[in-house]
Amino acid sequence: MSKPIDAVLVGAGQRGRDAIGIYAQREPGELRFVAVAEPDEDRRKLFAKQHGIPPEMQFRTWEEVMERPQLAPLLFNLTQDRMHRESAVAALEKGYHLFLEKPMAHTPEGCLEIAAAARAHRRMVQICHPLRYTPFYRRVKELISTGKIGRLLSISMYENVGYWHFAHSYVRGNWRRMDESGPVILTKCCHDMDIATWMADDHVREVSSFGRLAHFREENAPEGAPPRCTDGCPVEETCPYYAPAFYLGPGVGWPTSAVSVHHGLEERRRALETGPYGRCVYRSDNDAVDHQVLNAEFEKGTTFNFAVRAHSADCYRTIRAIGEHGEIDGHFEKREVKLTRFGQGYSDKATRELFKTEVWDGGHGGGDTGVVRNFLRAIQEEDYEGLEHSLDLAVEGHLLSFAAEQARVKREVVQMEEFRSAISSAAAG
Ligand SMILES: NC(=O)c1ccc[n+]([C@@H]2O[C@H](COP(=O)([O-])OP(=O)(O)OC[C@H]3O[C@@H](n4cnc5c(N)ncnc54)[C@H](O)[C@@H]3O)[C@@H](O)[C@H]2O)c1
Repeated sequence: MSKPIDAVLVGAGQRGRDAIGIYAQREPGELRFVAVAEPDEDRRKLFAKQHGIPPEMQFRTWEEVMERPQLAPLLFNLTQDRMHRESAVAALEKGYHLFLEKPMAHTPEGCLEIAAAARAHRRMVQICHPLRYTPFYRRVKELISTGKIGRLLSISMYENVGYWHFAHSYVRGNWRRMDESGPVILTKCCHDMDIATWMADDHVREVSSFGRLAHFREENAPEGAPPRCTDGCPVEETCPYYAPAFYLGPGVGWPTSAVSVHHGLEERRRALETGPYGRCVYRSDNDAVDHQVLNAEFEKGTTFNFAVRAHSADCYRTIRAIGEHGEIDGHFEKREVKLTRFGQGYSDKATRELFKTEVWDGGHGGGDTGVVRNFLRAIQEEDYEGLEHSLDLAVEGHLLSFAAEQARVKREVVQMEEFRSAISSAAAG
């Protein structure tokens, strides 16, 4: 690309700064942030300094940006989940092409509204689903769509969040309470729902789901554990969740970077004494489930089963796709995709190929880089159609998350046709 594309960034938090801002710092010839909106002064100033943004282009909120004439062709929205719908629709109405963090919105109606606004204003929307843009998942998709295993019959996916990651984000952190962010099947697993929908390239017909918060509860607190790890806990030598062991070490990258804007040891210690990340994991105000399973069927008959679990030592995702003529097994963190095609006779005649997929710079196995790159490509090529199809699938993946949560809570099998028509009428009126 010869000239960078100008963009506004709203929400200079962890993702704004460390996942997306960093792309422009690495690739100044492709993307340039010319304005920032962020209420936290330290974060705003830091982002402005990193990107050379003058004071007159620094704003407190996305609302202030919308009061101005359009400042650039693109707007990157990296605000928290519950702000997405309103700020996204406003940006599209203002004329911005939009890069929007997942989840698109915290309600299914909100997702439909954003998609409708994109169509009405003929603007491109890229949902930040980084996994779709990793070399790993692209390889799996390519093997399926080029017919290597024949017609797709079934997909199985597992997300092993990792006990420490779960404690950080879903017990102490921003996604611990369903009323403040959303259910785990949305806040964490909308990525997985998106991958399944994209692989099947289809709409879902029905879904069921079970799961609960079993472990991170008051009744499981060790005897004598105080509300905060820093208050002198009797099990500080052995508890896997002892906060100073997580956050007061030498590393200051994620997740430690989320604890305080300034990363000095004293600032981090103070943050543990006063902020959410120092809380005992058994005495937080969390209600996010720590394990959940889901079964679904797509309209063309592909079945999908999925599980998310907090309790794993390592953080990893796996995928298994079964077709009429073969199977694909993938391990995301190992970057390995194994293709097996059935041969004549017994399984020793099957042909097996192992692909080791590339590594790109950036978080989520290079997906953070890939998703921004895809958005900029689409803008350059004016690929309205490509992004519209991609957005349709992203909406479908989100609806699957919402429907699965309804199925879990109400203990029912949700028929997607009914679910869709109920939310369409709610969105319309
Ligand atoms: N794609 C992924 O893989 C991925 C990973 C983690 C988080 N996320 C999503 O990214 C989003 C941001 O997450 P985060 O961890 O960076 O959160 P964060 O809280 O660090 O950042 C959000 C920022 O928005 C700012 N903000 C609040 N009100 C605002 C307003 N009116 N105008 C502008 N900015 C405002 C906050 O001050 C904060 O700095 C969330 O929706 C989250 O779910 C996506």
